[in-house]
Amino acid sequence: MEQFRRRCRAFFDTLWPAEEKTLVFGEGKTDHPPIMLIGEAPGEQETLQGRPFVGKAGKNLDGFLQVVGLNREDIYISNVVKVRPTKVSPKGSVSNRPPNQEELALFTPYLYEEIMLVQPGMIVTLGNVALKALLGKDAVIGAYHGRVTETTVQGQGFRVFPLYHPASIIYNRSLTEVYQQDLERLKTVI
Ligand code: URA
Repeated sequence: MEQFRRRCRAFFDTLWPAEEKTLVFGEGKTDHPPIMLIGEAPGEQETLQGRPFVGKAGKNLDGFLQVVGLNREDIYISNVVKVRPTKVSPKGSVSNRPPNQEELALFTPYLYEEIMLVQPGMIVTLGNVALKALLGKDAVIGAYHGRVTETTVQGQGFRVFPLYHPASIIYNRSLTEVYQQDLERLKTVI
């Protein structure tokens, strides 16, 4: 895993030499965890702390762990894109934006390598970005959430359980119940 991170860092250092882009790598159980959780990209807090799913996203994660009955250190937590995608408003304030096609194309091969290293029992994707990275660009979360599906990474089959992104639930209250039901179902299949 250390070697993987060094290679990844070296690649992005040569790509964006002038920019200070903090890479936020995965953390947790790196050796056959029951779940590898894959989010979209780090946000501000993740970049400041150098860890995925902390701050507000970390609170959502705690709810997830409580329902499935696991501790943070029992699973592996990562993101498709390892840098924070940002945009700057005309007034100069910096905020998050979804990863663009270039970022996705650059980071997805590293995500596949990471999955091969970690060898999770189940991949849990959060939201459309992680889902599409694994199942292809035509996959949509509405059609896949809450059930086990299969994908192939570098020739190896993996079980995937897609969930809505917890952040999308904050903006769409009707999804809260669906998300909770999906979590209960996840608990029965891990
Ligand atoms: N924090 C992360 O690390 N990933 C997300 O997808 C959202 C918040």
